[in-house]
Amino acid sequence: MALSTIFLTVFLLALLSLRTYQSEVLSETLPLTPESLNVSINSAHQRLHLQWTIHNLAYHQELKMVFQIQISRFKTSNVIWKESYSTTVKQNQGLHWSWESKLPLECATHFVRVRGKVDDARIPEPKFWSNWSRWEEADAQNSLGPDLLFLFPEDKLVEEGSDVTFCYVSRNHQHNISCYLEAAQIHIDQLDPRVSTFKLKNVSFIRRTGTNIFCEDPGVAMKGTVLFVSKILEEPKDFFCETQDFKNLNCAWDPGSDTTLPKQPSQSYTLFESFSGKKMLCEHRNFCNWQVAQDSQEMYNFTLVAENYLRKRRVSILFNVTHRVHPMSPYNLFFENISATNATVTWKVHAIGNYSTFLCQLELLGEGKVIQQQNVSVKVSGEYLLDDLEPDTRYTARVRCAYANHFWKWSEPISQKFSTSEAAPSEAPDVWRNVRLVSGRPTVTLFWKPLSKSQANGKILFYKVIVENPDKPSKFEGLSIPAPANSTELPLNGSSYQIHVTAHNSVGPSPASVITVSGDPGNREVEEERVNITEDGFSVSWKPQAGAPAGYVVEWCDRPQDLPCDPQWKNLGPNATSTVIDSGAFRPGVRYNFRIYGISTERMAHLLERKTGYIEELAPSDNPRVVTSHLTSHSFTLTWKDYSTESQPGFIQGYYLYLKSKVGEQCLPGFEKTGLTDDSVYCKHRIDNPEQKTFVMENLQPESVYEFLITPYTSAGEGPLGAFTKVTTSSEYSHALVLILLPMIFFILLFTIVCYLKSQWLKEKCYPDIPDPCKSSVLSLIKSKENPHLTIMNVNDCVPDAIEVINKPEGSKIQFVGASKSLTEAEFTKPTYLYLLPTVKNSPGPGPCICFENFTYNQAASGSGSCDPFPITPQVPPGQRGPLTSRGNLLKALEKNYMNSLGEIPSGEASLNYVSQLVSPMSGDKDNLPTNPPEPILCSEYKMQMALPLGLASPPPSENSRLSSTALLDQGEHYR
Ligand SMILES: *[C@@H]1O[C@H](CO)[C@@H](O)[C@H](O)[C@H]1NC(C)=O
Ligand SMILES: *[C@@H]1O[C@H](CO)[C@@H](O)[C@H](O)[C@H]1NC(C)=O
Ligand SMILES: *[C@@H]1O[C@H](CO)[C@@H](O)[C@H](O)[C@H]1NC(C)=O
Repeated sequence: MALSTIFLTVFLLALLSLRTYQSEVLSETLPLTPESLNVSINSAHQRLHLQWTIHNLAYHQELKMVFQIQISRFKTSNVIWKESYSTTVKQNQGLHWSWESKLPLECATHFVRVRGKVDDARIPEPKFWSNWSRWEEADAQNSLGPDLLFLFPEDKLVEEGSDVTFCYVSRNHQHNISCYLEAAQIHIDQLDPRVSTFKLKNVSFIRRTGTNIFCEDPGVAMKGTVLFVSKILEEPKDFFCETQDFKNLNCAWDPGSDTTLPKQPSQSYTLFESFSGKKMLCEHRNFCNWQVAQDSQEMYNFTLVAENYLRKRRVSILFNVTHRVHPMSPYNLFFENISATNATVTWKVHAIGNYSTFLCQLELLGEGKVIQQQNVSVKVSGEYLLDDLEPDTRYTARVRCAYANHFWKWSEPISQKFSTSEAAPSEAPDVWRNVRLVSGRPTVTLFWKPLSKSQANGKILFYKVIVENPDKPSKFEGLSIPAPANSTELPLNGSSYQIHVTAHNSVGPSPASVITVSGDPGNREVEEERVNITEDGFSVSWKPQAGAPAGYVVEWCDRPQDLPCDPQWKNLGPNATSTVIDSGAFRPGVRYNFRIYGISTERMAHLLERKTGYIEELAPSDNPRVVTSHLTSHSFTLTWKDYSTESQPGFIQGYYLYLKSKVGEQCLPGFEKTGLTDDSVYCKHRIDNPEQKTFVMENLQPESVYEFLITPYTSAGEGPLGAFTKVTTSSEYSHALVLILLPMIFFILLFTIVCYLKSQWLKEKCYPDIPDPCKSSVLSLIKSKENPHLTIMNVNDCVPDAIEVINKPEGSKIQFVGASKSLTEAEFTKPTYLYLLPTVKNSPGPGPCICFENFTYNQAASGSGSCDPFPITPQVPPGQRGPLTSRGNLLKALEKNYMNSLGEIPSGEASLNYVSQLVSPMSGDKDNLPTNPPEPILCSEYKMQMALPLGLASPPPSENSRLSSTALLDQGEHYR
């Protein structure tokens, strides 16, 4: 009851007061003129602050009013700004309004006035403006110093992209002022005789220390200022908060560009949490640590405020802290029970609270790639068995965890390396063989390819080769070859062998590779075919063979030039009939040979086909060495037998024969004219058969020069046009000439040789030194025809003129018969000639003949009765030849030599001497005697010769001759 009474009372009072108010307002004398207008200047912000009051308002009256404000510059009539300002007015309350001037306030005097009008719905019409207040002046120039030039604003701070108006005031009346922005002159507008202005639009950041502007009145004054351009403060991006342990919240954000300037410190960041009402200033530009209150606050509403002088930016986030858990990295990652294929991983996590669960991700990496990925739920410690691992392989295990209740982020991962252990190799090595004869003995070379890493399951230590002779099954030969080797050589007997090859690592052997080899190299003749080329390599194909149930092997050499080559091979299944062989080693211009083998069930290889080809044929690089032969006047033959068509950079298809030709000359039949690179003209003949390595050039001109060149050609072109060979055909007659000349020369030679061999015989026959009377045919002729009683001349009938004595070099002696008693003691082994010279100068008529011993005939010769050869022709000592031409000299010489010789005659040995007669000297001219042999007149006949024993030779009967003769004796000398 009481309560309702109070309500009623209040209601009535309120109603009453409203009534009172309405009546008061209406009764008021409007308008309400602004009063006490006060204008103040804020130079730094270029603002005019206005303050005024409305006095004649009723007590506690509140009215909505609108004010009109006018601002004039320089003079009151120059209104530059009009603005309406609505507000609620209370009695005696100061009203505030401010205005920012574009033009710095120091440069101009400003005038301000205000008027007001009630703008309240409670006040009925009509409403009209009050009177203007008085003009209030705002003049900052009064405070300027005594300088002649001023430039405004001073060291202003603006944001990038702003427009800035500058002005200067000069107190010099004849001024001529220029202004510059960073040394570039700026256009100036004059506002007043003393004040000018210029505007910079859309200013940009040049440097932290600001942009330099200055104005200059040359010779009078200069003023500068700095414009600080700040980057625009950005709103913080990617703002988030998270916790590792529910004790700390780590909040972070991207602050954007830094707005720090000398005029402005770096922007500040403040964190405000609205639920707790707490606030903290962040020390860092991009993160902040927030202590979690002890009460278990779950929801947080953070506002991050970024602020600098010019701007303020803010960003808020609201989150449940259990959704922002970023766990710490797991620890103690270990491996247990590592085998070749399995390993167990264990790790631990940092627990949060008592009941937290983590989701951990385990990754297995091999060679940098993720192989396995597992998610494991973990409370405190995790464990996982990794299987399906490769033996002898290095792996990395990596673990990271996230809060399982609500996924926010993975922790930083922890990783650890481990290696599985080795296992026995899983595959048999790929084995191939090559059988050849080494010094007559069949030798097999086994080759194998190294196992791949996944096949080897560890480091291969050695290969074991076991040779099994099926004829002697119990006998095995084992051979260990240390690992990097990929071949071995085994000598064989003629029979066939089974060879097992295994690869071994530290755990054990691989399965065995079996190959059967017979001592027969198996080089049976198989025709060679050309192999096809495809883009991918050599396309080798073969006819399927019944005898190759185990498959085929294609064998080749990557570098056929190297001997012995390292064989390459490719195993193919029993159904294969072709394969493409590619190798990075194949080069153009190299001939590759492929052999296709069929493999029997006994693992024996039989050569089936041979292929050859080039990956790309090239033109020949060399020309054959050509030999010319059978050169005649009209033809010659060219041969190049030692040119091997096999070893060329392409299949030789034939040869071109070039013959140099003169302009206008006709080519030989079979040749055609062709012009080559230079101006010269050639005749060209094509030989299509690569095996034809001989060519006969015919229809040639005799005694002409022919220049030719033989070059082979392949599908890629012909060989180099090198040097031409010159051949000159022979003369037409030279052939016949040779036919005649040769036999002639032969016969002359033969004749000369015969003459030489028979020279002694000829001499004897034709020109003996001493003619042999026995052999003279003159005597018999005379005897038979004219005088049958004619005998040899009697020495008594002859007057000796000269005797020539020839003595043999062995020391033979001659005895002048009529003058020496030492003859008996003398030994005569050599013939000697004595010239007997008459003492009587002019002997009338024929005197008695002189008998002399002719030592030419020795005992043995006379006994046989035959005529022996003449003595050796003695030589004349060169010093004595001249003086002997006169008789006196001759005699002296003879005497002297004779006397010397006598003393040298050895004694005692008896032998037979022949005594014969000579012709008697010719009467008349004795001076001619030595040169002209005497013609027999009286003693013209020879007497029979007698053989006398030495010592019994008696002096000849004629004293005369003994006294008148001088004998000469000398060994081997002959005087005439
Ligand atoms: C979070 O705080 C900001 C600033 O205090 C406030 O404006 C906003 O409404 C708050 N949001 C919530 C969901 O409380
Ligand atoms: C925060 O999240 C947890 C888990 O999602 C939830 O149980 C809890 O109720 C949430 N708290 C608030 C205040 O929403
Ligand atoms: C590896 O683990 C598998 C089961 O995952 C087991 O059968 C095998 O024996 C293990 N191997 C080794 C070497 O421990």
